Amino acid sequence: MAVTRTFSIIKPDATRRNLTGAVTKKLEDAGLRVVASKRIQMTKEQAEGFYAVHKERPFFNDLVSFMISGPVVVQVLEGEDAVKANRDVMGATNPADAAEGTIRKEFAESIEANSVHGSDSDENAKIEIDFFFNEDEIVG
Ligand code: PPS
Repeated sequence: MAVTRTFSIIKPDATRRNLTGAVTKKLEDAGLRVVASKRIQMTKEQAEGFYAVHKERPFFNDLVSFMISGPVVVQVLEGEDAVKANRDVMGATNPADAAEGTIRKEFAESIEANSVHGSDSDENAKIEIDFFFNEDEIVG
């Protein structure tokens, strides 16, 4: 399996509870390497653009409001089949359905405040990485 990249967000519920290190440790323990990282306050325009694919979904406005409710940490992760490795360690979107040992099982508060985002395909990983990072900010 090839070494690939994925995109991760540590969401406001996790930064608020000072869990950036704890979440990152789970990612690293899953074989992922942080090759770029920055803590940012997303603007409404950024959040709306990033989640544009969910524009028609009933929770869109709540999701955008939540994602701008505090700082987030955006990261590029590298590893063997990084998209799958990340989604496996993240756990199900709804923490009530998340498997033992996953980030969302351990840390998420609700389906909205679910601590992390991860790209769902290699194609979207590239789009999402490019949304937040320049290539010179990524150091493998
Ligand atoms: S997934 O992983 O795309 O299949 O999950 P999905 O259910 O499609 O959810 C997409 C993102 O929307 C968030 N979400 C919600 N936010 C607020 N309220 C409700 N009810 C809700 N349901 C889903 C979910 O956390 C996903 O966010 P990201 O950042 O993509 O993980």
